[in-house]
Amino acid sequence: MIEKINFQYTDDITVVDRDQFEAHIRLYEGYVKKINEIDEILQNNPGREEANATFSFFRECKRGETYALDGVILHELYFENMGGSGQMNTPNLSITAQLEMDFGSFVNWEADFIATAKASRGWAVLCFDQRSYRLRNISLDSHDLGNIAYSAPMLVLDVYEHAYFLQYADNKTEYINRFMENINWEVVGQRMEIF
Ligand SMILES: [Fe+2]
Repeated sequence: MIEKINFQYTDDITVVDRDQFEAHIRLYEGYVKKINEIDEILQNNPGREEANATFSFFRECKRGETYALDGVILHELYFENMGGSGQMNTPNLSITAQLEMDFGSFVNWEADFIATAKASRGWAVLCFDQRSYRLRNISLDSHDLGNIAYSAPMLVLDVYEHAYFLQYADNKTEYINRFMENINWEVVGQRMEIF
């Protein structure tokens, strides 16, 4: 059973207003509900004998399993890494050094992450690619489409329209720019410590 995290809107969150935030939380809670439903169905042998790659109920369960679970995980990482204020809002020396090593400079990383977000239909993710042992900015068009198999997300930005349209309408660029000013780098630093 996956328990939802109770995210609360705070004054530190400047990238989105309360209405936009709370609508997004409701969507996240829908994914938590769905992965629990799917997990329960999968425990009860949902047509394994008829499993088929063109169409079968078992296939639909498997498609839904990773879609819903990635939807839960990515949203939690996103809500956790927004809302940086004060000292949290600045990357520490260790983060900056790692970004400089893999992207040439912090400014270059930032420009690449913003472009990745603009180019994505679902998510922009700064992840640590454990195969080539370096950070990469990756583009996901869907929760389960575009991930590097052996990688760990460090910074996650939701760029689905539902993440900003209530507040920004079609001004995706403004939403991305406001997000970049409101990153919680302390959370990103904690994620990077495991490598
Ligand atoms: Fe979302």
